[in-house]
Amino acid sequence: MGLHRLTSITVGVPDVAATAAYYTEFGLLPVGPTDEQRARFATRDGGEQLEIVPAPRRRLLRIGVGAHDADDLGRVRSRLLKLDVAVQDVAGGLCALDPNSQLRVEVTIAPEVAQEPAAPMPMNGPGRPDRANRRAPGVERENRVQPRKLGHLVIGSVDQTATRRFFVEGLGFKISDEAPGLASFLRCSTDHHNVLVQQAPLNFLHHTAWELDDIDEVGRGATAMLEGHPERHVWGLGRHHIGSNFFWYLRDPAGNFSEYYSDLDCIVSDALWQPSVVEGARGLYNWGPPPPPSFIQPDDLAGLMTGSHSPTTVR
Ligand SMILES: [Fe+2]
Repeated sequence: MGLHRLTSITVGVPDVAATAAYYTEFGLLPVGPTDEQRARFATRDGGEQLEIVPAPRRRLLRIGVGAHDADDLGRVRSRLLKLDVAVQDVAGGLCALDPNSQLRVEVTIAPEVAQEPAAPMPMNGPGRPDRANRRAPGVERENRVQPRKLGHLVIGSVDQTATRRFFVEGLGFKISDEAPGLASFLRCSTDHHNVLVQQAPLNFLHHTAWELDDIDEVGRGATAMLEGHPERHVWGLGRHHIGSNFFWYLRDPAGNFSEYYSDLDCIVSDALWQPSVVEGARGLYNWGPPPPPSFIQPDDLAGLMTGSHSPTTVR
């Protein structure tokens, strides 16, 4: 496959410093100086993956996708042109604007993510004391969690079908699972999904998701973020049905949701994965507390909709 990863994203927020402080606490690694105009963050394995810049309202401004070589770029370019999407050159690759969501996607030649394998965690089971005479390693950790990489983004689109076409037929993403007309789980790597496009009353960023080693890290990370900040809680702990990942969603000061996750399905061989069509609540989760209404319809959506029609909106 020509594409192999999400590289980095740029998110616009009204208060760069407050949002940057949140992601520092979240466990991302600050890169260079942070000021009112720009903050940059890296993950342990993915390099620089998040840029935060000023915007009147929270908004996803750019998605970066990594390709292997110039041939991959050529294929992406010709597919986009076939869809009548304009393509511009940028350093190391190309950029295109989804005509439906106005989302800017840059595809550049980038190295693959090299991940040090997480140490296998011994777990006891009935008749299987794999961790005999030892406490669980997860309860003995004391460091703050540090995400391994940016795993996926969920975006709302006013025309889910058209934005799906842009990602699949234009950029070359593959379909992992779908809830027809509502949500498409798309991948540009071996992760079950890197971009999820859902039908929404406006184009907006629903959440970013950051990979951790295991469920203990998801629980520990969220618990630390909630200490003294119960207002950050959105939804968790639970396990998704589509993608199988353990999840816990938190809210940043701008209103974007950020997810800690672990144990996402990996699709290493396309031929061995059968995309499914999922209906009803299973599309959302397998177990955990029921999702709050504000997860489905974030509280600031009405304000964002008003703003998106205002002439002061920055694109
Ligand atoms: Fe997610």
